[in-house]
Amino acid sequence: MRVDGEMQTQVDLGSLPFAEGGYLVVKRAVRGASPGHAIVVTGDAPELEVDLRAWCRAEGHGFDWQPAAGMARGQARILTGAAESARWAGARRATGDGGVDEDTVAEHPPRSWGLAARGATVEAGTPEFDFHLTDKIEVWSDDAARIYQQAVAAQWDPETAIPWNAAFELGHDLEDAVVQVMTYLIENETAALIVPSRFIAQLHPHFREVMQVLAVQAADEARHIEVFTRRARLKRTQLGRSTIGGQVSLKTLVEEPEFAIASFLLSVLGEGTFLSLLWFIERHAPDPVTEAVARLAAQDEARHVAFGLAHLSQHLGREPAFRPRLADAVRRRHDALRHTAALNDEVFDALLLMAAGSWEHDALRLGSRRVLQLIHDMDEGRRKRLVRLGFPEEEAAALSALHTRNFM
Ligand SMILES: [Fe+2]
Ligand SMILES: [Fe+2]
Repeated sequence: MRVDGEMQTQVDLGSLPFAEGGYLVVKRAVRGASPGHAIVVTGDAPELEVDLRAWCRAEGHGFDWQPAAGMARGQARILTGAAESARWAGARRATGDGGVDEDTVAEHPPRSWGLAARGATVEAGTPEFDFHLTDKIEVWSDDAARIYQQAVAAQWDPETAIPWNAAFELGHDLEDAVVQVMTYLIENETAALIVPSRFIAQLHPHFREVMQVLAVQAADEARHIEVFTRRARLKRTQLGRSTIGGQVSLKTLVEEPEFAIASFLLSVLGEGTFLSLLWFIERHAPDPVTEAVARLAAQDEARHVAFGLAHLSQHLGREPAFRPRLADAVRRRHDALRHTAALNDEVFDALLLMAAGSWEHDALRLGSRRVLQLIHDMDEGRRKRLVRLGFPEEEAAALSALHTRNFM
């Protein structure tokens, strides 16, 4: 209302002390007022004058106390300063279009948006965070939200999802083979955990759904490491072998600095190849525990491959010139690994024995054919995914052939 030519808002706090919620009522009135607007505050609380005076000084508002003659209570007059509105004048909505749609993803979110929720109003002058991945094209997929929801719904509990107590006894060599395969899987799953985890810390959190997909992917890999370790140690105290060739191959993945390229090498080519491997292990598992751990891991891996394909497809759709760089990455990695051994013999032999199921000659011949078929299926899967990313058939075949012999 207007009193003596001045716009005034009346606030009566009654017996509500300023420090116990009264300040919220006053603050609300101040927020709703334009600079120069007066707020008249009345109340019975004994500390009202002292508290209000201190608050107004801190907030940059004018303050005037008028003891009312003949009455127990006085009244305060607050003249709102410009500080509050000035403070938010330079604020920006953390959205792609400045706030029309609160959830629009920005192409290049500024680092100064920091950790703010997408859609929040960010005070000007917040510190810049050292995020490296700030370009939407490099990380984003419109499918990320859906893939994240699927991943969360598909989480399984290793304790109950796997028949740990199932009774079985394998021959010594077959148990050795399973332990060797598990040892190899653990090592590869560890790389698959580290790669997305590294990029989560570099990713601008504005790309929330991508951050969430990577986080749940890391959680998946943590579970895979757990169940493969438990299977390896189910009947044995000692694990199998880890080779130079395997580790050198994984090191090139772990050290790849560029997100899109790491994602291509790991998710599309590596985890894609692992899909065939895990289904192979599931199909030829000599015991129900090995079968279950392979199946559950394969189901998760399918999502990891799907996300890699989704954001790379979107990326390539907008920037086809990126495709030759992906091809270069495969060639570079192949050159770097040229002098390393093939897949370690122990793993290859273990897979063959697992697929054979016994030392019978006919069984071994069959096991050998099955492993060859696996290598063929892996190659076919890679070629199919490369074609989905727009590589011509011939180039897809050539690139698939250059993929690491370690599978991941
Ligand atoms: Fe995994
Ligand atoms: Fe994975």
